[in-house]
Formats: sequence, structure tokens, C-alpha cells
Amino acid sequence: MSDFETIKQAVFPVAGLGTRFLPATKDIPKEMLPLIDRPLIHHGVDEAVASGCTEIVFITGTGKESIRKYFKHSIELEKHLLNQNKKDLVSLISKIPDLAAFHYALQEEPLGLGHAVLCAEKFCSKSHFALLLPDDVMISTPTVLTQLDTVRKKYGGSILCLEKVANNETSRYGIVDAEEVEPGIYKINGLVEKPDPKLAPSNLAIMGRYILSRSIFSHLKRIKPGRGGEFQLTDAIASMLKSEPVYGCIFKGKRLDCGVREGWIKATIVKALQDKKLRKIVLETLKEERII
Ligand code: UTP
Repeated sequence: MSDFETIKQAVFPVAGLGTRFLPATKDIPKEMLPLIDRPLIHHGVDEAVASGCTEIVFITGTGKESIRKYFKHSIELEKHLLNQNKKDLVSLISKIPDLAAFHYALQEEPLGLGHAVLCAEKFCSKSHFALLLPDDVMISTPTVLTQLDTVRKKYGGSILCLEKVANNETSRYGIVDAEEVEPGIYKINGLVEKPDPKLAPSNLAIMGRYILSRSIFSHLKRIKPGRGGEFQLTDAIASMLKSEPVYGCIFKGKRLDCGVREGWIKATIVKALQDKKLRKIVLETLKEERII
């Protein structure tokens, strides 16, 4: 892939246990819980496809078979709906498997995000690939991935998605040490995973979108377990930036953090308010409940 070719391969690590959503995630993967009208993972796939990706790699764990099933044709259901002449519904569901070419890699044990990404190695044949964490649902035009890819085409290297967070929130995120090269774009000099606010090099936090050079895999093979005893992607990126450039880009748009219950509720409200019919219902409900 030349540096000017749009990113084509996208990796989604979905092998985590989703413990913050128990008991809902006891038997259903977090990524399959619905946000408005489709599972969380479908929102991420939509962003990757809208950004030009044609190959999607899911890193799955045990108990995630429903994700694979969701992105396949449901022949029986399609037949049944056709018999009932529900052509709109057939068209809605039959498009899903055709969104992209889907591949699956198994992470046998959830040993950390770095370990999960390494499981995608054999599918990432191009010089760069996109990495999307489906917990972060992004609302933006152009897509956040396209914004990152535009920076990559200009500067080369790997690109991280950044957001400024409150100083007391640094211990929830990977934080970068960086210098601004143009408004909103930073050359990364270092990274720290979830630092205490007193030790954080900045308040620029890494969010769930990346464009990574394929050489990340050689660094992922060398890192040792880091914070929390897990193989951390940030440790591999910190190692990579000693030999090749890594930039960060403050994305333009809205991030909805669906990794926590509070964020999921907010995402549901924000998404509902964007839909004409659902907006009416949200506002009517708030009136009924005497909130507004
Ligand atoms: P999180 O750290 O948010 O974990 O992982 P989680 O399992 O989704 O949720 P909690 O913390 O238990 O509630 C960030 C992303 O990395 C994936 C997760 O599936 C999620 O998309 N991941 C994490 C893996 O694929 N494998 C791992 O070993 C760890």
C-alpha cells in the first residue's frame, strides 16, 4: 500500500469480558447489546466501512459466537420474511454480510489489548491497518478514521486519536507526551498507560481509534506484561516510536463512551435525539416525567 492509498483493513478486538456490564454480559457479548436499532459492534463496522475499509478482522474470545453469526446471512429468517413479503426487512438484514469481507481470529485468553491486536497479525497484509475499539461510538463527518487517515497521508507513520480530558481523569486513559506540529496535530514522544494525574505528561488521552504501521506486531511480540499484568498496546506503541514516527490527532466530533453504563445511557439519548421519531418520544417522556 502506498502512503496515499486509503486504509483498507480494520481490526476490532472484541475478546474482552465486558465485566462493567454484568449481569447483562453474562451470556451476551457487550458488543452485541443494542444501541438504538443495532448492536454496538455494527456502529463501529459502519464507521470503518464509511471510511473505505473493505476487510474487517474481529479478535474474538470464547462465548462470542453471536458476533460471527450476526455478520453472516440468516437464510431461514430471510426466507421467512420473504414469504411474508417483508422486503424492506430482508433488504435491511441481507446487506449486513456484504458490508465487508469478515475474518476472525481467536484470542484464547483475554491477556490484554496488546495481546488481542497481535492475534490479528496474519490478516494485516498492508503496510498500515486501522484499529477500532467498539466501546467508543463516534459521531462525526468525516469519520474519525478518515480524519486520522488524512493525517497519515500527510505525515506518514502511525496515528493515534486524541481527546483533551480533565486533569483528574488521566488515570482512566493512555496519555501521551507530545508536541504540537500544527493545530490539533501532535508528534508523540512518549506514552503512559493510565497515569496518576500528578505523573501524567499531559491531558491528551488516547481514544479508541488508531491507524498503526504493521511494524507494531514486532513490538507487540517483545513487550512484557505491563499495567494490571496485561499486555498493553501503549507499551508496544511506546517501543515503536523509538524507531518510527507516531502522530496524534485531536478528532473533530463527539465521542460516546459505551464502555460504561453512564456513557451507554448518554449515547442512547444522543442517538435518539438525532432521530426525528425517537426525539419526539424522548421529549414526550421527559415531559410526562415532569423533568422538562
Ligand atoms: P476493556 O479494557 O474495555 O475491557 O477492553 P472489556 O472486556 O471490554 O470491558 P470491562 O472492562 O471488563 O467492562 C477494551 C477493548 O479491548 C478488547 C475488549 O473487547 C474491548 O473492545 N479486549 C480487551 C480484547 O479483545 N482482549 C483483551 O484481552 C482485552
